Amino acid sequence: MGLLDDIHDIRGRAVDELAGLETPEDLEAWRVRYLGSKGAVKATMQKLKDAPREQKPALGKAANELKNALADAFEARRGQVAAGAVRQDAPGADVTLPGQRPKTGHTHIITQTVNEICEIFARMGFAVATGPEVEDEHHNFDALNIPLAHPARDPLDNFYIDDRTMLRSQTSTVQIRVMENTTPPVRVISPGRVYRPDTVDATHSFMFHQVEGLYVDESVTMAHLKTCLDQFCKTYFGPDVATCFRPSFFPFTEPSAEVDIEFHRPDGTPYWVELGGCGMVDPNVLDAVGYDSEKYTGYAFGLGIERMLMRKHGIPDIRLLFESDARFLRQF
Ligand code: FA5
Repeated sequence: MGLLDDIHDIRGRAVDELAGLETPEDLEAWRVRYLGSKGAVKATMQKLKDAPREQKPALGKAANELKNALADAFEARRGQVAAGAVRQDAPGADVTLPGQRPKTGHTHIITQTVNEICEIFARMGFAVATGPEVEDEHHNFDALNIPLAHPARDPLDNFYIDDRTMLRSQTSTVQIRVMENTTPPVRVISPGRVYRPDTVDATHSFMFHQVEGLYVDESVTMAHLKTCLDQFCKTYFGPDVATCFRPSFFPFTEPSAEVDIEFHRPDGTPYWVELGGCGMVDPNVLDAVGYDSEKYTGYAFGLGIERMLMRKHGIPDIRLLFESDARFLRQF
């Protein structure tokens, strides 16, 4: 048998063997046997030296083709073994086992809560409005009846960007923006971020979320406000939750109140948690946006979203919500 036949034989045998290999160890042994420094391909190359001179070109070409063909076949098989493709049909492999579930994220608990709040108020006829987080002093203070000398305007209590521009400190800005662009009746809520340089602790953050509410129409009264917030709290927290309205003061509502909800400690002792402020829209605010305050009345409220969801889900520290620890966030 000549060298050309040998080359043909080696190629056939090597390719047949390769097709049956399923582990990286077997593949490596095959590589050493055929392509290694003492392997069959190398031995063939050495035999070329002794071949008759006129046959050398054809034999050299065949030997090179053998080497390249085996190297290509080896790489292809190695890829299949690495991808696990050959194991699928192997005896003992259970191809009916469920696949690995891809790791997908989900919305943050704050986003979930905002969506839930919007849904509850939508059922009571409220549309959703939005406003800018970078706000001018007019919408954050002037139009809300907060005079220049009011302590709430202190530069140390706000994030000013320049003399007239700031990060909004409350969502009440959106009340004004909506009324400037809508003729009454209006019934909107507006959830969003607000910013205050408060000292950060378990219940305070320098950035947090509020949901503003505004309803202006003929004959709107404080009774409507109380019913609306009471219904909201019962839907969000559960039918047994009690609400309490404490007299308070905001420059843009008159009368004003703070709304609290009742919780119970594990031993049953009740305690009250402040959710936000509310009141009847001050006639000055209505007049300033061109509404006839003799004809229209309205109520407004602004609730803290983190406070709300922390109570509902038993989260003890507001900072957990902003630390992006997936182990914590995955629970909700
Ligand atoms: C206001 O911001 C008023 N704009 C609410 C309002 C709207 C009154 C419409 C009348 C009519 P206040 O500063 O109390 O009010 O904030 C409302 C709620 O935001 C608080 O009750 C609390 O739940 C939440 N809150 C306030 N400061 C922080 C803070 N630093 N971190 C987290 N939540 C806060």
